Amino acid sequence: MLSLLLATALPLSSAAFGLNPLFGNPSAACSNLTSTFGLGKVAVSELDLRYLNSRHSYWNTKLDSHAPSCVVYPANAQDVSVILKAIRGTDSRFAIKAAGHNTNDLFSSVDDGVLIDLSHMTGKLYDESTTLATYEPGSSWGELYDYYLQYGRTVVGGRIHDVGTGLALGGGMSYLSPQYGMACDGFRELEVVLPSGDIVTASGTQNPDLFFGLRGGGGNAFGVVTKYTVQSRPIGNLYAGNLLYVSDHHEAILNATRDFILYNTDPKAAVLMNFNVLTTPDLGLGLDQACVMFLVYDGEDPGDAYENFTAIPHIMNTLGPKTYPQVANLLIPGLAVISRADNVFRIGVHRADDDSYKTAFDRFYQWSQDHKGDYTYIHMDYNPVPKSLTDASKAQGGNAMEMPDGPWFWAEYTITTPPLISDAKYDEIQASFRDLVDGTPNAEGLPFFLNEAHKDQNALRTFSSYARLQQIKQRYDPDGFFANRTGGWSFA
Ligand SMILES: Cc1cc2nc3c(=O)[nH]c(=O)nc-3n(C[C@H](O)[C@H](O)[C@H](O)COP(=O)(O)OP(=O)(O)OC[C@H]3O[C@@H](n4cnc5c(N)ncnc54)[C@H](O)[C@@H]3O)c2cc1C
Ligand SMILES: *[C@@H]1O[C@H](CO)[C@@H](O)[C@H](O)[C@H]1NC(C)=O
Ligand SMILES: *[C@@H]1O[C@H](CO)[C@@H](O)[C@H](O)[C@H]1NC(C)=O
Ligand SMILES: *[C@@H]1O[C@H](CO)[C@@H](O)[C@H](O)[C@H]1NC(C)=O
Ligand SMILES: *[C@@H]1O[C@H](CO)[C@@H](O)[C@H](O)[C@H]1NC(C)=O
Repeated sequence: MLSLLLATALPLSSAAFGLNPLFGNPSAACSNLTSTFGLGKVAVSELDLRYLNSRHSYWNTKLDSHAPSCVVYPANAQDVSVILKAIRGTDSRFAIKAAGHNTNDLFSSVDDGVLIDLSHMTGKLYDESTTLATYEPGSSWGELYDYYLQYGRTVVGGRIHDVGTGLALGGGMSYLSPQYGMACDGFRELEVVLPSGDIVTASGTQNPDLFFGLRGGGGNAFGVVTKYTVQSRPIGNLYAGNLLYVSDHHEAILNATRDFILYNTDPKAAVLMNFNVLTTPDLGLGLDQACVMFLVYDGEDPGDAYENFTAIPHIMNTLGPKTYPQVANLLIPGLAVISRADNVFRIGVHRADDDSYKTAFDRFYQWSQDHKGDYTYIHMDYNPVPKSLTDASKAQGGNAMEMPDGPWFWAEYTITTPPLISDAKYDEIQASFRDLVDGTPNAEGLPFFLNEAHKDQNALRTFSSYARLQQIKQRYDPDGFFANRTGGWSFA
């Protein structure tokens, strides 16, 4: 009854939206898992609150339409191994879910298959003698930051607290990345359940090729990571906050962002430029738009790092002393929860020493004005990749992106489509948005950012390591079990 109500209450039918063909026998997989684990670890009923919570908590709410046959909550690597074998034995589809923030269809969601929800694996500990932090995949970054703060330490992870640990498998951009590299650069040892069900360790010395692939080559490709051991970092008080600009200062903000990318040399200073447009009319006053700078300095005195931004007239300035958990909650507390909607990411990559910082923006801005009504909200973010970041990455052995020396930047685009539109209209808007993003030339030789790429952008192909990643995929997923039975980046 409740499921019927839910089904009719959902604004969109899932019919045209990426439903995967029925494979194998998912109900046999679910009964196998139920007899193996009991109902304590498996939710089979659509009335089960655990099922509802696992299914209806994606940041891209479009993914909520997918109906898994059951949801299983492993407690450890042994459970994951048993689960993968049961799924394989019935030839079913499956998905691996951490916090469900990836916007791509069927990456962490599944229809007629088993959803492996890692949210019950929340173990975490700190080893003071080695300064290494070990955590399981089920916590949010905010929970990890809160936990490690008692030791005056933190781990390199997401900028918003409720995003999940899958972020690190796609690289992972943090406010601390200009100092310490991407989240995946901090990996020291991973516990991994391979597609075969074997439990192995991946590190610089054990299965080093697997370790390489997992450092930013994407989740759900080579296995399930059940434990991360990473280099923790010291954290104290920070100086951070937002500047909010409303009227027409685009050019000055873009210039300041470009100058920051090109000239800032202080690795403790991080910025994120976030330009937002609402579907409401501009009325020639710029009332439909706002630019928000996220400024985070790892230390109490930022010197002149942010002067070029504070010099531009703004209507709000929340810069001041902050703790790290507060930094993961800037602007609007609970931002990621509030912003759940029909959200899709796309990515571009540019250098700041030509005019692409401006042409990419201008094209985006023009699209926003020409497509009123096709979105409720869109935004574009500039993520600087400074030389200090790529140096820190190299110093720790490098990652699957094999990041060329900074400075350069990722341009991330997000579209939130209106809730009550037809599937045909949805597809038409997404195609136009894709053409906007893909029509802006990207810099040669720079990798896309997996965490913010759309699956049709073939992001792995932009990696100089692509051929090597294909070999690693072949080695660890030799019969294509993951390739054929769960979503994720294409290696074909
Ligand atoms: C509000 C918001 C803020 C964001 N901020 C940042 C940011 O600051 N920096 C950044 O880099 N990115 C950011 N992102 C992008 C984010 O990194 C990606 O969406 C990422 O995929 C989310 O990981 P997740 O665990 O939340 O999601 P999920 O969708 O659960 O997982 C992501 C992918 O990894 C796989 N996966 C997850 N865990 C495992 C595992 N243990 N083993 C194998 N595969 C696994 C899943 O199958 C899926 O394909 C943000 C996204 C949102 C929505
Ligand atoms: C579950 O599947 C596994 C792998 O195919 C099999 O070995 C096991 O016997 C099955 N267990 C049950 C209870 O069906
Ligand atoms: C931005 O930079 C460009 C090129 O360097 C310059 O021509 C322009 O006047 C600057 N605009 C503002 C508002 O600072
Ligand atoms: C501020 O901008 C100027 C150019 O207008 C540049 O020379 C300077 O390095 C910038 N400052 C910082 C801290 O980025
Ligand atoms: C399964 O994967 C393998 C290797 O990736 C591929 O060759 C094969 O065609 C796939 N099979 C199906 C049924 O998709």
